[in-house]
Amino acid sequence: MLKRTILTAAGLMAALTLMAQTVRLDINLKKAGAPIQPTMYGIFFEDINYAADGGLYGDMVKNRSFDFPYALTGWTAYGKIDVKDDGPFDRNPHYLRLNWSGHRDKFTGVENEGFFGIGLKEGEKYVFSVWARSNGGKLRIELVDNDSMTETQILTQGEITVTSSDWTKYKLELTSPVTIEDAHLRVELIGSVSVDIEHVSLFPKDTWKGREGGLRKDLAQALYDLHPGVFRFPGGCIVEGTDLDTRYNWKNSVGPVENRPVNENRWHYTFGYKLFPDYYTSYGFGFFEFFQLCEDFGCEPLPVVSCGLACQFQNDDPSAHVPVDELGPYIQDAIDLVEFANGDVTTTWGRVRAEMGHPEPFNMKLLAVGNEQWGEEYPEHLRPFVEALRKACPEIKIVGTSGPNSEGEQFDYLWPEMKKLGVDLVDEHFYRPESWFLAQGARYDSYDRKGPKVFAGEYACHGAGKKWNHFNASLLEAAFMTGLERNADVVHMATYAPLFAHVRGWQWRPDLIWFDNLRSVRSCSWYVQQLYSLYKGSNVLSLTWDGKPVTGAEGQQGLFASAVQDGSLIYVKVANTSSSPQRLEFSFDGLKKAEVVKAVSRVVYTSPDPDADNTLDDPQAIIPRTRIFQGEGKAVTASIDPMSFNIFVFER
Ligand code: AHR
Repeated sequence: MLKRTILTAAGLMAALTLMAQTVRLDINLKKAGAPIQPTMYGIFFEDINYAADGGLYGDMVKNRSFDFPYALTGWTAYGKIDVKDDGPFDRNPHYLRLNWSGHRDKFTGVENEGFFGIGLKEGEKYVFSVWARSNGGKLRIELVDNDSMTETQILTQGEITVTSSDWTKYKLELTSPVTIEDAHLRVELIGSVSVDIEHVSLFPKDTWKGREGGLRKDLAQALYDLHPGVFRFPGGCIVEGTDLDTRYNWKNSVGPVENRPVNENRWHYTFGYKLFPDYYTSYGFGFFEFFQLCEDFGCEPLPVVSCGLACQFQNDDPSAHVPVDELGPYIQDAIDLVEFANGDVTTTWGRVRAEMGHPEPFNMKLLAVGNEQWGEEYPEHLRPFVEALRKACPEIKIVGTSGPNSEGEQFDYLWPEMKKLGVDLVDEHFYRPESWFLAQGARYDSYDRKGPKVFAGEYACHGAGKKWNHFNASLLEAAFMTGLERNADVVHMATYAPLFAHVRGWQWRPDLIWFDNLRSVRSCSWYVQQLYSLYKGSNVLSLTWDGKPVTGAEGQQGLFASAVQDGSLIYVKVANTSSSPQRLEFSFDGLKKAEVVKAVSRVVYTSPDPDADNTLDDPQAIIPRTRIFQGEGKAVTASIDPMSFNIFVFER
């Protein structure tokens, strides 16, 4: 017993000794360092994990235009139905003819399953719409409870009389009496007169910014709350496609939604658990909606276009590479995209934008050519793009890539190639384990200051054996990001990836935001991204410990730190990745004789369980908290918790 007491006391002494070894962080206020770009922290959207249809895009009807390869995918049909293909929208030509079944007790109709069901909220309004034609035929529109086997399965209903034999859009507003995650939408023929139906939609009325046919509000809000400085879109591998035919073709994503042709998603075949893949994109969330969202967020749009190479992970067939001398249409697509975003309303694509309701240019300044390409074929394909873009739109900054790996042969080959081609930024990707993040605090300290700038375009800590969202992963991302911040002269943009995941339709994790048909949850990584945006500052300040940057290097006790200024405010970020508390002294250099620095506030992000994250049931389980922080002088002290990310705010 006595021995145990002695040991415990010794342990306590050791902890106190450790605490007593105050770490002095020297922050130099003499001179503001590199400016932090407004684009520094951003978002990267890709339609993976049902991020677009079934996610951010508000339409809850799957295969709304019957143009999936199997016209009735997502629908259950009963009675007498014909599938026709001479509809009013030439790029989505299929529609259904609902015919009288020949008997008053037999019914004809179709029921849509939505995306893992249709989520409805009690008292909320939903806008149903359909393109239809008939000589006075009638439709009954019902929202039904898929799990109910009784008459109460009909939650709400309404009727539409199709008065015109010309294709016309009909609308009906329905209010849900209940909250339900797995409703279905039923469209049933009433009476004996046939009705043709096409492009069936169901949107919440309450969308982001109240736009009709718009975006799911909670998900758009989660992006807005990140205060992104840049928005990369639409991918990712989806830009490249499984083959060239299924690459993301931006021209198919603009104009009236009814005529945006359905495209097979690059992630279609990647669900281990789905026997029948049905992942297509409606292009409903297309390039116009993307630019509009950037405008809402006040951030820079960063479109990515295909460089003529299909996804190299998925397809090494020679037909998946456009011969370099046949790249003309691809290059023209890139130039036309700039015209769509920025061109005068008298230009071909500027007019399309204006017709969509935005005559003012979107003022796009950045363009990435290719996603995660590698090999000699990438610079070969990129060269003609760079030459043509420099001539046609010299104002555009071009983003190239260093391939799928954070280091290694391809990375070492591609960076010099990107320099030779004179791209403005190079996109680096790293989905790496804890050990990598812990070792990369100084990654950018030695980068060439004269070459292209860095865009950390896709990254996330993928725990070794813990490939799911959890606090420790976000802590290591926070630690790593101190190195981005310290090197803001060379790192101009960074975006975590992927952004969204549906809990019932994901194929990749971790992800920044998870959702089901009713709710969404912001992960711990989301909060780290938000903290960096909120405390971005305007210029880097030098911060050292014993004359060295604090990068988690050997002997630095698992500490990572950086500092920025924002007018008279100073933000110091410190990640303590160790399991011990630490005592810090912030020592300010460069103050005038009588000048002092005052502690203003402090944000602490930590979790009792490093393996836990926020959940749909408990979305606020692990959120940053403010703590009292006082002190004044040329130096101020504070203690930090084990495994915590801290932001200290001072004023001078
Ligand atoms: O973010 C998921 C995928 O990771 C992207 O599509 C691709 O660029 C990378 O391989």
